Amino acid sequence: MKIFLDTADLAEIRRAAEAGLIDGITTNPSLLAKAAGGEGDPRDILAEICRAVDGPISAEVVATDTAEMVREGRKLAEIADNVVVKVPLVEAGLRACRQFRSEGIKVNVTLCFSPTQALLAAKAGATYISPFVGRLDDIGSGGMELIAQIVQIYENYDFTTEVLVASVRSPQHVADAALLGADVATIPPKVLYQLLQHPLTDRGLDAFLSDWAKLPESQRAI
Ligand code: G3P
Repeated sequence: MKIFLDTADLAEIRRAAEAGLIDGITTNPSLLAKAAGGEGDPRDILAEICRAVDGPISAEVVATDTAEMVREGRKLAEIADNVVVKVPLVEAGLRACRQFRSEGIKVNVTLCFSPTQALLAAKAGATYISPFVGRLDDIGSGGMELIAQIVQIYENYDFTTEVLVASVRSPQHVADAALLGADVATIPPKVLYQLLQHPLTDRGLDAFLSDWAKLPESQRAI
């Protein structure tokens, strides 16, 4: 399963990319606005992100009608070859998705909350579908059930759209996504480093190091 980082924070992106922990980036208007912090130009930040990570970079349109979405999406796609244009799962977004796909522009259809939405996005030629598991869990409606349904539907009809699990809140979401055969999980930085952690790993390493430290100094050098 590929792991994308769900942030527009360049410092976090560079750290994870240098560690070889990520395969791509997802942004959205909230994350990009936060990173721009009222001064930076969002397009410059996106260009920097595209240079920092050699993988798909999702950048979202903010228009709500098809013609304007297509105009914005073409501008975003001009920023770099690894830009994936993100559109909301509404009628105007699916129309724009078809147009972008006819122009060879990759599309991430976002804000997916139902299997029928995901079916329509795949039929519109979406490259990625982004179901929001955390926001479904927030309202007591199982996010992972949706992932299981979408993976099954896409297998039933050999859709090539990749299932990109979004709104990830915990390592358990990542494990469940991988067990269900999702193609990608996009993860906030905080959760990414939680994936690495286990108390027994820390305890085991401490024990190894303290046992080694018991050796006379002359014998410790490797
Ligand atoms: O890209 C979607 C993701 O950023 C939303 O996450 O945690 O706001 O539900 P969250």
